[in-house]
Amino acid sequence: MSAEPTVDWTALRTAATDVAQRGYAPYSGLHVGAAGLTIEGDIVLGCNVENASFGMTLCAECGLVSDLHRRGSEGLVAVCVVAGNGEVLMPCGRCRQLLFEAGGPTLMLYTDESPIRLDELLPRAFGPRDLPPEASA
Ligand code: THU
Repeated sequence: MSAEPTVDWTALRTAATDVAQRGYAPYSGLHVGAAGLTIEGDIVLGCNVENASFGMTLCAECGLVSDLHRRGSEGLVAVCVVAGNGEVLMPCGRCRQLLFEAGGPTLMLYTDESPIRLDELLPRAFGPRDLPPEASA
């Protein structure tokens, strides 16, 4: 099994800030970008996409997870989420759950201090292992 790639947090933050400019946020005005590092060493990206039906809004992390699957990646190692001005944001509750599925408890998240594991943000999470074997394909 190959070793996990080293995380270049500066590169992830720059990529997240760049993609945040593509965020579609006419209602909140908050442009959000997310950049992640895959197990294979690739960068995956997402930006938020709002909707006139507010509840339909897609967070930046949704786009990132879609990009992950588009690439056929085996999983996420690290994620950085920022606003359009580069300010660091913590993923919302729903997105913590999405990221848990994609990266598991050891997924690293960028913060203004030192990076933290996802299980610090989402302790004792419900996940794939809580489902009966026949439920997972
Ligand atoms: N947003 C994200 O993209 N990710 C989060 O984790 C938190 C919130 C977006 C959704 C909405 O477009 C805007 O931020 C304000 O809530």
